[in-house]
Amino acid sequence: MSNFAAATRRRGALCYSRSTVSPIKRIGILTGGGDAPGLNAVIRAVVKCAWNSGIGCLGLEDSYDGLLEFDRSRILAPRDVTGILRLGGTILGTINTGNPMDSMVPTSDGPRVYGERVIDMFHKMGLDALIAIGGDGTLAIGHEFFKRGIPLVGVPKTIDNDIVGTTNCFGFDTAVAFATDAIDRLHTTAEAHHRIMIVEVMGRYAGWIALYAGVAGGADAILIPEIPFDIDIVAERLRARDKWGAKFSIVVVAEGAFPKGGSAVLQEAANEKHVERLGGIGAQLCPAIAELTGKQTRSVVLGHLQRGGAPTSFDRALATRFGGKAVELVMTGQFGTMVAFDPPDIVARQLEDVVGKTKTVPMDSDLLLTARALGVTFGD
Ligand code: F6P
Repeated sequence: MSNFAAATRRRGALCYSRSTVSPIKRIGILTGGGDAPGLNAVIRAVVKCAWNSGIGCLGLEDSYDGLLEFDRSRILAPRDVTGILRLGGTILGTINTGNPMDSMVPTSDGPRVYGERVIDMFHKMGLDALIAIGGDGTLAIGHEFFKRGIPLVGVPKTIDNDIVGTTNCFGFDTAVAFATDAIDRLHTTAEAHHRIMIVEVMGRYAGWIALYAGVAGGADAILIPEIPFDIDIVAERLRARDKWGAKFSIVVVAEGAFPKGGSAVLQEAANEKHVERLGGIGAQLCPAIAELTGKQTRSVVLGHLQRGGAPTSFDRALATRFGGKAVELVMTGQFGTMVAFDPPDIVARQLEDVVGKTKTVPMDSDLLLTARALGVTFGD
């Protein structure tokens, strides 16, 4: 064994090498759910690691839909993934349309039950395993396919960082970096005009982006779904800043935040094609805070900008490690699992332990407690 192989084995990193004999000859790879910076880095890592172990990859387009027809997939060799490490989005395409498992779909062979068609085509395409990169929805569907006999490994992705079992998902660091930069920019204009700026960030039912970007950007109020807020308490904190001479304030609000006794603001209710779409709390807070503080107030929604652009170096490295680990799990037959970050290691979790749950900000989070100690209000 080479020194490198011995060293990586000692640290619990990739435990296979080119000489590992695996019955796996062909892996299908797909990306599902909302995109997140780092998806392409995972694809690249999977394709290259697999190739170097004599395994071919088939890229499936638009999540599990890539298994509906032969012409919705393409072979991926290293030359097909060269240069995509730094690209946002996903070269495979993705969709975010709920769980189609038992619905009827039109196919070139006539109408079929979605789940049955996917399983049938998995075998017809000569696949030995599937790597599904996605958020909770994609992983939950993957878990269902695993239970129905598909050898599957999941890779967690989401800017929201709300997947149970992994400290970080790739995409989160990039989203936080973007939101922090936006808050920095809003600081200067807020200060110049002695205004309050409200910044609405994504995150669904978890306040991770708001908490991290809020602290990193020096926000005065951070409102997260885990802590229903009282607007009078928020306004009191902002008025207090005026009294000691800080004539401007920054409020970071997670899209899923809601007032005590209230509920989250929706852009669109859930329907058969999509889960509910959150958004609009910043705009709702704007006139209320202006009235309670007597200060000019403006609100900005960062929206999908948080999902675009190049992944940070942290996300590139994490995504690459996830991709390498996913290939290791496939080669060693550890299916029904998800790769996860358990610092400093990349580990495997059982899908059944993570799907259908949401990792929210715990009330004893050191970052949350430190923010409180700094005087940041959470509106409680
Ligand atoms: O899960 C990622 C995420 O960006 C959430 O933060 C946001 O609520 C949702 O996706 C938006 O979904 P869509 O892109 O379908 O509007």
